[in-house]
Amino acid sequence: MDYLRIFDTLWSDYISLVPSALKIFSLFERMNEDVENDHIAIRTFQHPRVSIEVLSKLFIKAGYVERGEYNFEEKKLYAKHFEHKSAKNAPRVFISELRYNEFSSFMQQLVDLMVLNVPQNLINSGELIFARNVFGVPSYEFYELLRKESEYAAWLYAYGFRANHFTVSVNSLTSFKNLESVNELLKNNGYILNNSGGEIKGKPEDLLQQSSIMAEIIPVKFKEGVYRIPSCYYEFALRYPDTNGKLYSGFIAKSADKIFESTNFYS
Ligand code: NI
Repeated sequence: MDYLRIFDTLWSDYISLVPSALKIFSLFERMNEDVENDHIAIRTFQHPRVSIEVLSKLFIKAGYVERGEYNFEEKKLYAKHFEHKSAKNAPRVFISELRYNEFSSFMQQLVDLMVLNVPQNLINSGELIFARNVFGVPSYEFYELLRKESEYAAWLYAYGFRANHFTVSVNSLTSFKNLESVNELLKNNGYILNNSGGEIKGKPEDLLQQSSIMAEIIPVKFKEGVYRIPSCYYEFALRYPDTNGKLYSGFIAKSADKIFESTNFYS
């Protein structure tokens, strides 16, 4: 499977959960912008059956290579990012895993059971990235318990394996020179920005600035009934050239930390 097909497949699933991402994408297109995707993000647990290694398999086959690793201490996450070795406009891929063994024994036992439910063929083929929730119908009670410890874990429990977000490359836009003007456009169109740690994460001297809209709240079927919970979100990234004049291509753990909160509950 070439990388374009991987992203097309992930995008169609993603916009089914976040119709506002498609609306924002179309908004830019109507302004004659040719929107490029800076990166996508995939969430998982730190377990050999569903590790970064497993979830990066299909990307590696499609020509991707590992380019960086990150630790998010507060969120207890370990992450790697991948880039295509020759296709210049191919999006980066950011995959993070939750160090769930550092949480309660409740979470550890639940995740161990969830991971056992993942079909072996998806692990072998690497198609786990398209599998969505393979853990079975979630319990709302467990969802709420997980959420108290980690919103990230609760999100994964409800949504499973898929793109958690796509990201507009602000560098690819011609009529927006900074993130502030993109944020203004979003707010003027009624979108709620993630304001945790400020609307813009990162400074120009960090070489990466990011903002995001809060995840759409959608109805999800649980064992106890249907509940409205946060789904996926759309992100916006602006990259700056480093001292060699080359656009910085990595991620910044200290400023990206708060971006994870885009899937938190809000009212
Ligand atoms: Ni991101």
